[in-house]
Amino acid sequence: MTLSEIILKRRSIRNFLDKPVEKEKVEACIEAARLAPSADNVQPWRFLVVDDVQLRERLGEAAFSSIYRPCRFVVKAPVVIIILAHPDVVANKLGKAVQGTQYYLLDIGIAGEHLVLAATEMGLGTCWVGWFSKRGVRKLLDIPRKYDVVAMIALGYPDPKHLGPKKKKLLREILRYNKFDWK
Ligand SMILES: Cc1cc2nc3c(=O)[nH]c(=O)nc-3n(C[C@H](O)[C@H](O)[C@H](O)COP(=O)(O)O)c2cc1C
Repeated sequence: MTLSEIILKRRSIRNFLDKPVEKEKVEACIEAARLAPSADNVQPWRFLVVDDVQLRERLGEAAFSSIYRPCRFVVKAPVVIIILAHPDVVANKLGKAVQGTQYYLLDIGIAGEHLVLAATEMGLGTCWVGWFSKRGVRKLLDIPRKYDVVAMIALGYPDPKHLGPKKKKLLREILRYNKFDWK
């Protein structure tokens, strides 16, 4: 597949086959993330892979109870990748103070998308998830405070019965040359 084919094929997958993901494929996804660019090359990311069935169930309780319940589908995926960030004090404080940008969140977004595209290339489905109890995840997995629990990615073989259409803005809605003229 070419890169544009992979980009076209990728969509959020929330229903997975009951089929384990080969460890080499999980690691190829993380390898793709490892090579991502990051502000000041800080590489603030850490990837905590949860593939143990019992732990996934406990993660379901800890991360996806009450208001977070709609996202419990995540733990039905055979693999859940928790993306942590260890923001660099200098790069991040300076970025936030001077530029008003949390660079580590950009870094995580880029690395996570590398991961997702690599997964798509290997026939895997993914879904980014940002709606979960950070506190619950932190407590369950003993994650120290200096790490931000930024997102999760559900990973597995997609259930072909549930592939919905993608609704995307048109190019003409999001692109201008040389002049800002959105309302
Ligand atoms: C940072 C981020 C957080 C997201 N959080 C959730 C989430 O908590 N639950 C969920 O079902 N989907 C989540 N998504 C997936 C989006 O809903 C999805 O990308 C969007 O609807 C576009 O659909 P597509 O990915 O199929 O193109 C998230 C996506 C991103 C990039």
